[in-house]
Formats: sequence, C-alpha cells, structure tokens
Amino acid sequence: MNGTRPKAIIAFPILESVAARARAEFDLQYDPTTPLETEELVRLANQIQAEALMVVMRHKMTEPVIAKLPESVRVISTASVGFDHIDVAAAKKRGIVVTNTPDVLTDATADLGFLLLLAASRRLPEAAATMASGWGQTQGFGERLGRDLRGKTLAIYGMGRIGQAIADRARAFGMKIVYSNRRRLPQDLEKGATYFATLDEMLPHADALSLNAPGTKETEKIMNEKTFALLPKGAIFVNVARGSLVDEEALINALRSGHLFAAGLDVFANEPQLDQRFLALANVVLTPHIGSATVETREQMGLRALENMRAVVRGETAKDALEAKL
Ligand code: DGY
Repeated sequence: MNGTRPKAIIAFPILESVAARARAEFDLQYDPTTPLETEELVRLANQIQAEALMVVMRHKMTEPVIAKLPESVRVISTASVGFDHIDVAAAKKRGIVVTNTPDVLTDATADLGFLLLLAASRRLPEAAATMASGWGQTQGFGERLGRDLRGKTLAIYGMGRIGQAIADRARAFGMKIVYSNRRRLPQDLEKGATYFATLDEMLPHADALSLNAPGTKETEKIMNEKTFALLPKGAIFVNVARGSLVDEEALINALRSGHLFAAGLDVFANEPQLDQRFLALANVVLTPHIGSATVETREQMGLRALENMRAVVRGETAKDALEAKL
C-alpha cells in the first residue's frame, strides 16, 4: 500500500459504525443505500479498479463472474460465515483471496436455531394467529398442545461452532444430544453427546433434528424423502444452515402428512423466493434468513470482513482466508 487508500467496494449497506471505519481506511467510491446487484458490482470494480470487495450472500461470485473482475482485485471478503455463493477455487486461480466471518455470528445464529425449535415445539404460529384474530375463545385443556423439550433428544447434523452452541442451549433445556459430523469431536467439546458416523444412523434417535452443516455438494439435499422417513414420527425439524441441504418437496410432504410434528426454518432452497406452499402449513415457523441479524452481530461481522480486507491489501495473511483452509 502506498500513501493513498486502497480502492474498495462495499456492495451493500452496512452499519454506520463499520462504514465510518471503512471510509477511514479505504477509498470507498461507492456508499450504497441499497445492495448492488452482482453485475453492477463487477462493472464498478472495473471502473474504479478496486482492490477489495466486500459482499454478502446475494452476490453470486461464480467462476464467470470472477473471470470478469479486473486484475486489481485482491480480496473478496464476504460478511457471512457461509461461502457457498463464492467459487473459492476460481478466485484462487486468479490470485484473489476469499475470506469469511466465522465465530462472531455463532451465538446469534444458535439463538435463532433454538428459538425456532422452541417456537415449533410450542406451536407458536398457531397461537400467534389466534391472538392476531382477536382471541375470544378459551383454548381447551387438551387442545393444540405442543411438545416438551426436556428429556428429548436433539440430533445435530454438523457439529461445528454453531452446532456446538445449539447443543449448549439444548443442554440447558434438559435435552440429550446426539450428533453427526465428518469427524468425531474431542471429549471436551463433545460434552457427553453421542457421535454417529452417518446421518442415517443418527436420524432414528432424533426427537428433533437441527441442520448446522455448510452448503456444499456433499450436503446437497441431504434431507430428502428417504432421510425424512428415517426420523421417528412426530420429530421436529430445524434449519438455520442452508436451504440447499433440504429437498423442500420431501419436507412439505413430511409436514403435511404429520410425519414431522413441526419445522422451524430460517433458510430456503431458492431464497428469497419462498415456496408458497409453506404458507398454508400451520406447523411451520418461518423466518427470512435472519440467523445473524442482530445489531451487535452485524457490526462484528462488518468489522471482521473489514479486518480481512485490510490484511490482504497490506500483503498480510488474513485471519479468515479460505484458500488456506481448502
Ligand atoms: C452466514 O453468515 O452464512 C449467514 O447465513 C448469513 O448469510
């Protein structure tokens, strides 16, 4: 870096506290009030010969998109832990470092996962609909009953940081934990949870299932007709990971038939387009991909993304360089 600030684009509106710091460190030629479309981002990057780009999930940085970026780009920093929207290998081939923001969103995402589990188990959407229509009639003693979590088994697919944080919350609610992960965790992280080498072996033990694995080729539609059928009847399903892990047709069938008691979903196959059939189901709690959407967490994500950009343009190793982990 010489005396001038490196040119950067933050392709989406960011909290003012982060924007202020970004402006002090980078020559930000664009201060968005609405997110840039990916094409516009590429055009602008070429126009200003940007060195650093900060993106989010909506920016699909595929191989053809990356090929159109100017030589000047040295880093694509995504303000997200997931990076399934970026072709890291294609970026690496062009000498572009890709970084993400792990750790800082673990608690917020785990909170939402557990909130969805509670809301699904206690039939919150039906209760909220009753109140929204003015109430007026006492609910019968045996009517619209939910399910207790205490004493039940929560199965976690993907026992990384977020999976482990959900397990911690579930333990506090008196749940037992089983999990499936590429590798078994060391005992101090496992905290008494039972490991299953495969998803199929784990599913029959689950009163509730939480997906917490990344969206990759390996996990694509890992929950499908066959695997939903392996869950015991009456299980609860929660997904705060990625919609790509789920065959939504199979999920809707399992919810309609009552094989699943309920589901809590924050992520969907074709975001932001929602399969409208979900809206007709009483036993589903839906949120629009807000796992990390708190003031504190979004600030930390922005700062971490900025820190990664800064490191790369200074020629240092970024804390969260994904190429190093591939
Ligand atoms: C993440 O950080 O991956 C969240 O899902 C937001 O995209």
